[in-house]
Order: sequence, then structure tokens, then C-alpha cells
Amino acid sequence: MKRIKIDGAELAYRDEGSGKTIVFLHAFPLNQTMWDEQIEALSSEYRVVTFDWRGFGQSSLGEGISSIDVFADDLARLLKGLHIDGAVICGLSMGGYAAFAFYRKYSEFVSALILADTKSPADTEDGKRGRYEMADLTRSKGPSALVDVMTPRLIGETSSRNNRIIAERVKEMIESAQSEGIAQALVAMANRPDSDDLLSRIACPALIIVGKEDKLTPPAEAEKMHKLLPHSSIETIQDAGHLPNLEQPESFNRVVKEFLAKI
Ligand code: MLT
Repeated sequence: MKRIKIDGAELAYRDEGSGKTIVFLHAFPLNQTMWDEQIEALSSEYRVVTFDWRGFGQSSLGEGISSIDVFADDLARLLKGLHIDGAVICGLSMGGYAAFAFYRKYSEFVSALILADTKSPADTEDGKRGRYEMADLTRSKGPSALVDVMTPRLIGETSSRNNRIIAERVKEMIESAQSEGIAQALVAMANRPDSDDLLSRIACPALIIVGKEDKLTPPAEAEKMHKLLPHSSIETIQDAGHLPNLEQPESFNRVVKEFLAKI
């Protein structure tokens, strides 16, 4: 794992392979190891960058996450530090919210977007309340208090039944995050702006991916984004929930590769 100092935080990252660059943005409350199968499958043909958001995995929290824009700014500084001036940005769930924030501020760096298991609307009032409660729970009890709450939401029914390793990996990732990183990311997500309007202004090619069994950001949300996003295609991954890249890596990697070959 490499490290780079960015605005008071130290971000842990991987930068593998060469060629067209694809940067993967991880979900909440996980870390970059959720993309290990994508690094393995893609880095013989592409330059693949993954990193831990500040406060997650092996990245320090630094000055904190005052809004979702902090993630966008960190990504911009990371790209600058790695001398990358254009990349395909693939964000899953919270990574997708960060991709919207990045596109809003730094669209010149985005050659294409992959939006996986994410959604464009802002949180409802109920959704926000839930996030504040989860932030309190994490601050008082630590990241492991989230394992039982989050795991069934993240993993699809098929993987829950057939693949125990996924749940173990998810647990490990959640427990590696810092309580304060989790709590601040929850508040940042609760306050993120609606991105429905942004979708119609996205000019680059985009691929939308969704796990058929995703309960958090279900296929209906993905279809809505597909309708609003002018140059988009959509792929549904069978037998996967919210984390198709982990649950069905071969299918996920195939649709990503097909998209990358086309653009
Ligand atoms: C994620 O997977 O990043 C989160 O579940 C997103 C969310 O809570 O909205």
C-alpha cells in the first residue's frame, strides 16, 4: 500500500498497471480492499487506482469530512499527485455520491463514469434521521456496532445464503474504519445535494450497474438514473445485492471491461 499526504490527511492508495486510467471509489463504511478483484482483473490492460477515503481503511481522518465535497477535493488532489489528468471514475454507492460531487467540481478530469449501486436523489428527512442515529451509535459503541446493522443491507440474499466469505470481508472492512470517520461520512451523506439535475448535464459516456437483489439502492433507482443520464447504458448483475463487484466479480468485471473497450 502506498501513501500520499493530502490536506492534513494521509491517504492509503494502490496504483497498478498502465494505460487508460480507471479510479474506483469505495462504498460506506468499507474500504479499498472491496476492489481487489477489479485490480486483479483490469490492471493487465489498464492503470487502476483505488484508495481509502479519509477516516476509512488505512487513511487518516486529518481535518475531517465536513461535506461530501471533501471527498471530491481529496480525489482531485490524489489525481494531481499521481499526475493523472483524465480518468474513468467508478463509484459504488457512497462512492457514487462522491463521483457526483467530483463531476460537479472537476468534470474536466472525468472521461467516463461508472455509477454502481448508487442513487441521485438527496436523502429524505427519515433517511437523514437514520444517519444521525447511526452516527451516534458509532460514536458511542464503535464501528463493530454497525456490522449487524449494515451487513444484511449490503449483501444480497444469494450471497448471504451461499458465500460466507463476503460477510466476513464486509465485517473486516467495517471494523477497520475509524468511528469518527464513519460518523462524519454519515453526516456528509445526509447533507449531500440532490443530483437529479446534474444527471441531465453529464456529457461523458456513463455505465450504470446494479445488483438485481440490491435493497439499499434498488434496480428502480438505477433505471431512473438511466432515464435522466443522456449517454448512459445500464447493466443488471444477477445474484448480487448492493456489492456486485464483491458478490459476482466475474459478471461485474465483464460489464466494466465491455464498457472500457467501447469508450
Ligand atoms: C454505501 O454503500 O456506500 C451506503 O450504504 C450508501 C448509503 O448509505 O446511502
